[in-house]
Amino acid sequence: MKSMTKSPLQIARASYQPKLPAALKGNVVIKEGAATKSVADQSDIKSLFPNTYGMPLLTIEAGDKKVYPAVNVGVILSGGQAPGGHNVIAGLFDGLKNLNPDNKLYGFLGGPSGLVDHEYMELTLDIVDDYRNTGGFDIIGSGRTKLEEEWQYIKGAEICKTLGINAIVIIGGDDSNTNACVLAEYFSQKETGIQVIGCPKTIDGDLKNEMIETSFGFDTACKVYSELIGNIQRDANSAKKYWHFIRLMGRSASHITLECALQSQPNICIVSEEVEARNLTLKDVVDDIVKVIMNRANHGLNFGTILIPEGLIEFIPAMKTLITELNDLLTESEDFNALNTDDEKRQYVKGMLSKESSDVYRSLPKGIAKQLTLDRDPHGNVQVSLIETEKLLIEMVAKRLAQFKAEGKYKGKFSAINHFFGYEGRCAIPSNFDADYTYSLGYTASVLITEGKTGYMASVRNLTAPAEEWIAGGVPITMMMNMEHRHGKMKPVIQKALVLLNGAPFKYFKKYREHWADERSSYIYPGPIQYYGPTEVCDQPTITLLLEQEK
Ligand code: FBP
Repeated sequence: MKSMTKSPLQIARASYQPKLPAALKGNVVIKEGAATKSVADQSDIKSLFPNTYGMPLLTIEAGDKKVYPAVNVGVILSGGQAPGGHNVIAGLFDGLKNLNPDNKLYGFLGGPSGLVDHEYMELTLDIVDDYRNTGGFDIIGSGRTKLEEEWQYIKGAEICKTLGINAIVIIGGDDSNTNACVLAEYFSQKETGIQVIGCPKTIDGDLKNEMIETSFGFDTACKVYSELIGNIQRDANSAKKYWHFIRLMGRSASHITLECALQSQPNICIVSEEVEARNLTLKDVVDDIVKVIMNRANHGLNFGTILIPEGLIEFIPAMKTLITELNDLLTESEDFNALNTDDEKRQYVKGMLSKESSDVYRSLPKGIAKQLTLDRDPHGNVQVSLIETEKLLIEMVAKRLAQFKAEGKYKGKFSAINHFFGYEGRCAIPSNFDADYTYSLGYTASVLITEGKTGYMASVRNLTAPAEEWIAGGVPITMMMNMEHRHGKMKPVIQKALVLLNGAPFKYFKKYREHWADERSSYIYPGPIQYYGPTEVCDQPTITLLLEQEK
């Protein structure tokens, strides 16, 4: 493997020893809790997962020394990058070697396709050492191939047999863990003897529930974006001449945007879930923004910051209908693809949409309307990260303010700058929280495997306490499932966690947002993630987690 040139921080971080829950530091024993049931649709999920339904919750506690037979394990990184992925692998590797030095770890390359295409490498100590506490997924690469068809499972079982692999660890988001659960059930039914364990990953923060307090990567990504937002706010407050429209990643849920708002206290933060609940139109959203801008202008403040979740447009009911129609219309549409010019494509789309959606489509700036018709993802959905909602809002806000100016109702000056933060945070060097959490998750997975478990997600809880007091264990993946409508069929899937409007983080935001919006402002400048220094600076979890767990 090609050696890398390392930064001084990377060299220093290589020797950082992630903190582990006390129970994982020595010999362990697994304690079984109560039997579980799925969050909803119990009889459907039970009949689809006869072998892995209803299993008990597991907690890892300190135990007596035990001899474990050697196992070979395969690991897969699935989906978008999230800080800490390398530490899941390091924790898994160290755990396996501690439990039995003859244990071996293989990495499947380029995501789930590595399992199907038999692309793999053995992960040895030298290799793992090179990636400890680093960002990225480059140790083995990631990919978005879905493991959902029987031929893929058969190919997977084949390579496991060849390499003597007893267990696969899938590090992924809600979809990948849903597939991990289906795979675990399939391998059990076919008596392959191959276990499957999942790990909760995604910067989006939408894989969480009663037993999974947060997905890894959310902490670091939000801290990176909040640093950037804080820097922009300081610039805005110094120059006093720009409104900054900042779109943030997170696909569908607004957790990232909300957390960044809690960390930086911008003038405006849009929460998609609230927009949907209030049944707002795009015009309503624009009007709300304009109101704040005009109020600040009345106090001589022609600057500010606005946070926009990348999934916003899919939560505006009329836009959602338009997007659904476009998804149906454009997925593998030969007619559309055969057209040469943008204008021809625009005319074609306008002619095919319903009257309501056609009106919405026409009302959009041409550039944005075009973005809505760009390539779909492998599921036929629009790729929200490619839609420049921040530019759309700037254009519409500018238009509205110009009208008010013409009517003599607005005397301010509006100059806007657009930003999109997403890829900047996904591979950042993991914060101490993520470095510790991911290492603990990987270590937990090694215990679940050697104890013969399958169909579980590694879980580490009590995350606002010091790492020593964290509780490691396993949660049956079937427990997180319900039936949902997907591509015309009812399917078992892990419930996606959206921002709860009655949850503590949103309530806190709601309480203070007017204060942040008006002439008082209350910007916070969080500064960069700190890896060395006092614990209140270096080891704090997200505000979302703190508020959610406030007793
Ligand atoms: P995962 O759900 O796989 O963790 O990915 C999340 C995400 O970073 C979203 O926030 C974003 O919309 C999307 O991936 C971007 O996808 P891509 O990496 O394919 O550009």
